[in-house]
Parts: sequence; structure tokens; C-alpha cells
Amino acid sequence: MKRLQKKQISLFEPYVSKEEVIEVSKVIKGKFWASGSGTGKVKEFEEKFSKFVGCKNSVAVNSGTAALHLALGSCNVEKTEVLVPSITFVSSAHAAIYNNAKPKFVDVDESTLCIDIDDLEKKISQKTSVIIPVHMGGYPCDLRKIQKLAKDYKIKIVEDAAHACGTTYQGKKIGSHSDLVCFSFHPVKNLAMPTGGLIALNSNVKNLNWFKSKRWCGISNRKGVSYDVDSLGWNFYMNEVSAAIGLVQLKNLEKLNKRRLMIAKKYSKLINLDKKMPFSKDCNYNLYWIRVKNRKEFMKNMKDNGIETGIHYKPVHMMKFYSDSPKLKNCEKVFEELVSIPMHPNLSNDNVEKITYNVNLLSK
Ligand SMILES: Cc1ncc(COP(=O)(O)O)c(C=O)c1O
Repeated sequence: MKRLQKKQISLFEPYVSKEEVIEVSKVIKGKFWASGSGTGKVKEFEEKFSKFVGCKNSVAVNSGTAALHLALGSCNVEKTEVLVPSITFVSSAHAAIYNNAKPKFVDVDESTLCIDIDDLEKKISQKTSVIIPVHMGGYPCDLRKIQKLAKDYKIKIVEDAAHACGTTYQGKKIGSHSDLVCFSFHPVKNLAMPTGGLIALNSNVKNLNWFKSKRWCGISNRKGVSYDVDSLGWNFYMNEVSAAIGLVQLKNLEKLNKRRLMIAKKYSKLINLDKKMPFSKDCNYNLYWIRVKNRKEFMKNMKDNGIETGIHYKPVHMMKFYSDSPKLKNCEKVFEELVSIPMHPNLSNDNVEKITYNVNLLSK
């Protein structure tokens, strides 16, 4: 007889209520599934998201990668250097290449894994056009210091807030501090969709119509059925199914982030490791990282005990595609020991207890 396999505790998981299912079937049955001009649910999502984070305008797109691509595209970065922390998802760096710029990798602060401010200042040159701070795991970067550097050296900021939906910095939601802030709604993010992203805008760097045209193949001057194309654009618009899911997720976000915060509080109190993600009530805890000396063995033993783990992230400058980049001391040291443990609102108290017990046992 086949042995029943015990369900693994997954590393990431979206929270799904009945409401998402109802809203999705309404969209499916309504047969209006998408519009390049972003009407219907997409427009409603943009308006509600702007209110939630406190930004002036929102442009919904079909991924966080697309959001970064367009946001950098609005900053005239061609032939310049874009400063990116190396511990991030590759899209933060690729966005520079998509726009004919060069990503220049910056080391991270070991205690938060966010961009290291001293190394950031050292890496600024005549060629620097943009800094991309990444709120790693949802932990807010020191935006005040980054904004000061940006002002002193006349550099723009494009925040990569893919992890930071609902994170607060100095009493205001991430999304409200910089001219351009990019979000991802990938299924493992705090606000999950099948695929989705958004650019929060807080000034008229390029006007709203520029972004709306670029996200739909460059279409401009649309009047009824006629339109023109005045520049190259992409097929980056968000579909109605994603937006319908996003609207429900947005409604539940504060509640779900509170659950994540409670889990992070337990991890930070009960896990007997010196090196782990710091606790802050401002963080939305998209993920939770720890550092262990015996990573390979630790991850295997966790798996054998029914607990999934991951690594976020292998530093981007160590990837083959970017291998001509200089070494970064902290990133490389941290990477050897870095492990993500389960973090999502579906974890029960028993799950959290099992995870902390096993982490303490297996990291010795
Ligand atoms: C830090 C970071 N930036 C950008 C992205 C890209 O987002 P998406 O997967 O929605 O394209 C991700 C997604 O995983 C991310 O984690």
C-alpha cells in the first residue's frame, strides 16, 4: 500500500478566500477579460491602490519586472550606470539592461540585507543616473539617507518595492516617498495575483499618459476606435482577472500583514540564532531569512522534516550573465549562509512552533 505523504509546510503561499473565486468567475462570465487602456477592474485597482499607499497615481502592469522596465525607461538612463544592491531578484538589474544602461552592483548591510549606504556613496560616479533601493523581504531601506545622496549628487531614485506592499517607513506607506516606486504582485508576494505589477507615481517625471501609452504598445491619442502610435511601447497591461483578485487581496492586506508580523515576532523571539532578519513593526515580512553555518545539510534536514526552505537571493553579480562585475564582500559572505524559512499568512501556530523547533535543532 502506498504510504500517505504528509503535507509539507510550504515556504510561500497566497491566502485565498471565497471572494477571490467569486470575483474571478464574475470576470470570466462577463467576458470582458482585458483592455489595453486599463478600464474596468484595472482602473478600480489603480485607484484603490493609490489610496492605500498614498501615492499620486498608479499605473498597473503585468509584472514587477515590467514596472521596473518602464520606471527606468522614464528616467533617460541610456548609457548611464544604475546602482543596484546585489542581493535581489535579477529583474532589478535586468531593468537597467532593458533600457541600455549598465547595472553597477552595490554591497548590502549585513544586518538588514538592504543596500549598504557607505558602499552606495562609494559607487556613485559621473555616470550614475538612478539608485534602485530594494526593500529586501519587505524591510524598509534607509530612504532618508538614500534621498540625501540622490539630492546631493542629482540622481533619481526608483524604489524596488516588490516585497514591500504594506511596509511603512517613517509613518508613511512605501509607495508614497519617491517619484517612482515599483511593486510586484507575483503569487508569492503579500498582495498576490497570478501575475501583476504596478508603478506608484508621485510626480510628473513623465506624465501619466506616457506610462499608459508605454504599457500598451505605444498607443497614443486614442479617440473612440482610432489611435496613433508615437513611440515604441510594450504589451505590459494588467488583465481583468488579475485585477479582480488584486482588489480582494488589497481589502485583506492589512489583516494578512498583521498575521505575518505576529509570525515574525515569534521567529525573532524563539529562534536561537544571532544572525536573522531583524524585527520591526514597520516591515510587512514578505519573507523571513536566517543565516546558518551548515546550509546544505540544514536545508536537506528541514525538507526531510516536512519544511520547505529557500535562498533569497544568490547575489546577482555572481550570476554568469553578470560575471564581469567586481566582488562584494558582504553579499558573498552572507550568501554562503542565507536561508529563507516559511513565511505566509496560512501558517498555523503549530506550524510556526514546528518550524522554530526544527530551526533551533538543525542549525546547531
Ligand atoms: C525584489 C524583486 N524585484 C522585482 C521582482 C520582479 O517581479 P515579477 O516577478 O512580478 O516580475 C521580484 C519578483 O520576484 C522581486 O522579488
